[in-house]
Amino acid sequence: MRIVLVGPPGAGKGTQAVRLAEKLKIPHISTGDLFRANISQQTDLGKLAKSYMDAGNLVPDEVTIAMAKDRMEQPDATGGFLLDGFPRNVSQAEALDELLKNESIKLDAVLDLEVPEDEVVKRIAGRRICRKDNGHVFHVTYSPPKTEGVCDICGGELYQRDDDSEDTVRTRLEVYHTQTEPIIDYYKSQGLVRTISSLGPVEEITRRALDALGRDE
Ligand code: AP5
Ligand code: ZN
Repeated sequence: MRIVLVGPPGAGKGTQAVRLAEKLKIPHISTGDLFRANISQQTDLGKLAKSYMDAGNLVPDEVTIAMAKDRMEQPDATGGFLLDGFPRNVSQAEALDELLKNESIKLDAVLDLEVPEDEVVKRIAGRRICRKDNGHVFHVTYSPPKTEGVCDICGGELYQRDDDSEDTVRTRLEVYHTQTEPIIDYYKSQGLVRTISSLGPVEEITRRALDALGRDE
C-alpha cells in the first residue's frame, strides 16, 4: 500500500506510523526524522533544515522534495510506503503526484488524524524522543519510559526536541492550518481521504486506522 499520513503536530503521526508500517509491512518514511538525522550528522542539508525547523517553518520545497524522492526510490520502498509529514503543502502534493505518475503508481489512501488543539499542546509539551533513534517516542505522562530519561527500546538518552518549545509549537500549528490543511481538500477531490479521531489509547487508534484502510489486523 501507498499511504500518506496527515495531521497537526503532535497528532500521533509518528506513533501510529511505526505501528502501521510494521503491520502493513511497508517502510515508514518521515521527512521530519530524515531532517533530524541530517542535523545530528551535521550535513549541509541538516544545517539548512535546522534554521527552518527551529522557527517552526517549513523547510523549502526544493530540498524537501529531492530528499523525499531519494528515499522513496530506495529498494525497500518499491512495493509501498507510509509517508509521515510529506507532502505538507499543495506544491509538495503536486510534486508527489507527478513522481508517482512517472512510475505509473497511485496512492491508496490519505489517513487524516484529527485531534483537538489543547490535546496537541499537552502531547508536545510532554514528548521525549531518543537520541539514538528518533522513531523511539515517549511521553512523560501518557507513555513514560521505565527509567526516566532512558529509552526502553535501545537505552539511548531521551531529550526534548528543539522545536517543541511553546512559541515554536504555536507557529507550527499556524503553518499546519494555512499550508498543510489545504492538502486535505486536494486529496478529497481525488477521493483518497479517510479521517479518524486520534484521541484515545494508541492501540485503539491503530485499529481505527487499519479499519479505515480496509485492513484486518
Ligand atoms: P515533523 O517531525 O513531521 O513534526 P510534526 O508534523 O510537527 O509532528 P510531530 O512529530 O510533532 O508529531 P506527531 O504527529 O508525529 O506526534 P507523535 O507521534 O510524536 O516535522 C518537524 C519539522 O520538520 C517541521 O516543522 C518542518 O520544519 C520540517 N519538515 C518536516 N517535513 C517537512 C516537509 N514535508 N516540508 C517542509 N518541512 C518539513 O506524538 C506526540 C506525543 O504524543 C508523543 O509524546 C507521544 O508519545 C504522545 N502520544 C501519541 N499518541 C498518543 C495518544 N493516543 N494518547 C496520548 N499520547 C499520545
Ligand atoms: Zn531508543
